[in-house]
Amino acid sequence: MTNEAIPNLTAFDEAALDHAFAALEQQAAADAATLDSPEAIEAFRLRWLGRKQGRLNEVSARWLKAAPPEAKKALGQRFNAFKAIVEGLLEQAAGSGPSDAALAAEAIDITLPGTRRLTGAEHPITRTMNEIVQVFAALGYSVGVGPEVESDYYNFESMNFPPGHPARDTQDTLVVAGQERRPQRDRLLLRTHTSPVQMRTMEQQPPPVRIVIPGKVHRNDAADATHSPIFHQVEGLCVDTNITFSDLKGTLDHAMKALFGSSVKTRFFPSFFPFTEPSADVQISCIFCGGKGCRKCKQSGWIELLGCGMVDPAVFAFAQEKQPAYDPKRISGFAFGMGVERIAMMKYGVSEIGQFFAGDMRFLGQFV
Ligand code: DAH
Repeated sequence: MTNEAIPNLTAFDEAALDHAFAALEQQAAADAATLDSPEAIEAFRLRWLGRKQGRLNEVSARWLKAAPPEAKKALGQRFNAFKAIVEGLLEQAAGSGPSDAALAAEAIDITLPGTRRLTGAEHPITRTMNEIVQVFAALGYSVGVGPEVESDYYNFESMNFPPGHPARDTQDTLVVAGQERRPQRDRLLLRTHTSPVQMRTMEQQPPPVRIVIPGKVHRNDAADATHSPIFHQVEGLCVDTNITFSDLKGTLDHAMKALFGSSVKTRFFPSFFPFTEPSADVQISCIFCGGKGCRKCKQSGWIELLGCGMVDPAVFAFAQEKQPAYDPKRISGFAFGMGVERIAMMKYGVSEIGQFFAGDMRFLGQFV
């Protein structure tokens, strides 16, 4: 910063003026070279060009006023030239922006690798589950959910698996510890299927019912290529007057065509589930060989995909404890249940169920 006082001029000839203005120019240039912030630039402006205390003002006050009349013109011209120089310095400082040091402190190293944001995507199981639900939503079905920690009553008894009945052994169950003193029906377990939500739904609303229930289920199964102790199901329930087995067949045939393509055929094989009578397993024509027979369908041309049947009157009897309108003499219904992993494995050609749960981004990244 320059704060040397402006000297008085005693001589006003060319040489004296040259000398006096050269000294001022030198001061202004040195002063301008130190400007490294907007504040410093403003201070420079005030110091040199300020209306009251600026150095130029002082120059004009001291030198112009003291000059003899014949020197005033030359002095005025030099004064204006010097003013232009100071303004030039100011412009240059303002235009050149922050100093190199200030720039370096804020600099971004564009040679460093960036932070990559991964694109989120639905997990293939979630996607398949939503797709299945969507097929039924388009038919007017609503969507329901129920608890994964379920009571013995809802998971088994109300689905017509009486206590001690051998049908319970078909679903190897994980139970919550320390429940021995509770009545059997209240004991908690991890639900082995989504079927208990059939009963929870019927208890909440009288017929008609059309609902699909996606969800997670648990069984005490050893993991292998096609089994996992945790998997997902989509349950379906339709109850109304005059619901028949042909409604069930038409609905599931449509759903399989919507999921696997319109050329897929279905067939229904007699089966057993405690909560449906009659019960059936649904097979679809092999989507890999078109029904000719291959390794995937064990040369049969068919693949078993889900269970279904007409709701057993014993199940309606349990529902009637809360909703008398479920009178099997007046209404009828069908139900079905399918494994989501199995359908996803077929749709995406996945041969190991464990891939869905391993959290390996090389696998999951294929579904983005
Ligand atoms: N809950 C059965 C299971 O987990 C699947 C099932 C079969 C559901 C037939 C149904 C049905 O609603 O009607 O093995």
